[in-house]
Amino acid sequence: MYPRKTKQEKDAARVEKLQRINHDADLSYEIDGRRVLLETVDVIKQYRQYDQVVTAVNRASFRVFENEFVAIVGTSGSGKSTLLHLCAGLDRPNAGEIYVRGNKLGAMSPDQLGRFRGTYIGMVFQSHHLIPHFTALENILVPTMMCQKEEQSYNETLKKLVATLDIGDRLHHLPSELSGGQQQRVAIARALINMPQLVFADEPTGNLDRENADDVLQLLLETKALLGQSLVMVTHDLTFAAKADRVYKMEAGKLRPWRRSLDGELPGYVEKE
Ligand SMILES: Nc1ncnc2c1ncn2[C@@H]1O[C@H](COP(=O)(O)OP(=O)(O)OP(=O)(O)O)[C@@H](O)[C@H]1O
Ligand SMILES: [Mg+2]
Repeated sequence: MYPRKTKQEKDAARVEKLQRINHDADLSYEIDGRRVLLETVDVIKQYRQYDQVVTAVNRASFRVFENEFVAIVGTSGSGKSTLLHLCAGLDRPNAGEIYVRGNKLGAMSPDQLGRFRGTYIGMVFQSHHLIPHFTALENILVPTMMCQKEEQSYNETLKKLVATLDIGDRLHHLPSELSGGQQQRVAIARALINMPQLVFADEPTGNLDRENADDVLQLLLETKALLGQSLVMVTHDLTFAAKADRVYKMEAGKLRPWRRSLDGELPGYVEKE
């Protein structure tokens, strides 16, 4: 008779299985032994309003490696959210290419892109974007429905997210019946429920008090470590940016490695070619 598996072993086996499934048709390449999970090449996004053209993202090129935490800082209106939406396949650029796991987002049909996003990408929006007539629980489960997942495949993850984010007693309420911070936490649970390989978070702690903000960052970093995820986070909070492996700064649509250090706390930037 085999010894019973401990909970830890079961968790590890489940994560490994999910990672195996997630890695099929992985077309990403390696640089110095590190897998490039996201790459943007000269991405441009312009908005036209009457006779005015706003260049929200201006030839942005960057890479994010597997299991890396990249922070993006920058003043309001500099193009951070626009860039994140493009990378998450929620919007198409006017020029340039975006690759996730080596897959060119621009080459996918809307259906393919929808499925791809549901499987590999999690997004925490700056303004939640919860579906107003869905309860908190239904909102959290939207990505599982998109990928037609069986309940048993996400039940454990759901329980853990609900407990960590402290939203157990709000699950059957509509977003309009939740506080801003609770809506934010529901949005974070929705982004993580499918255990995606790549997580984009647009000021995920913007509506939270210090304690809740710290908990949320902790959860994002723990999930990242457990699943070997890559995390790209826009933040105004420099103490959070200081925890990132690399920090970029967005200025008037231009994305640049940020070399400035904050009392020696912010990491410098070394681009490996
Ligand atoms: N749908 C749109 N139509 C027209 N202009 C837009 C649209 N979305 C964004 N913009 C403009 O693009 C620029 C970049 O906006 P974006 O939301 O990416 O900035 P941001 O860096 O995320 O700012 P914040 O820190 O305030 O969230 C801004 O000038 C904004 O007004
Ligand atoms: Mg924004």
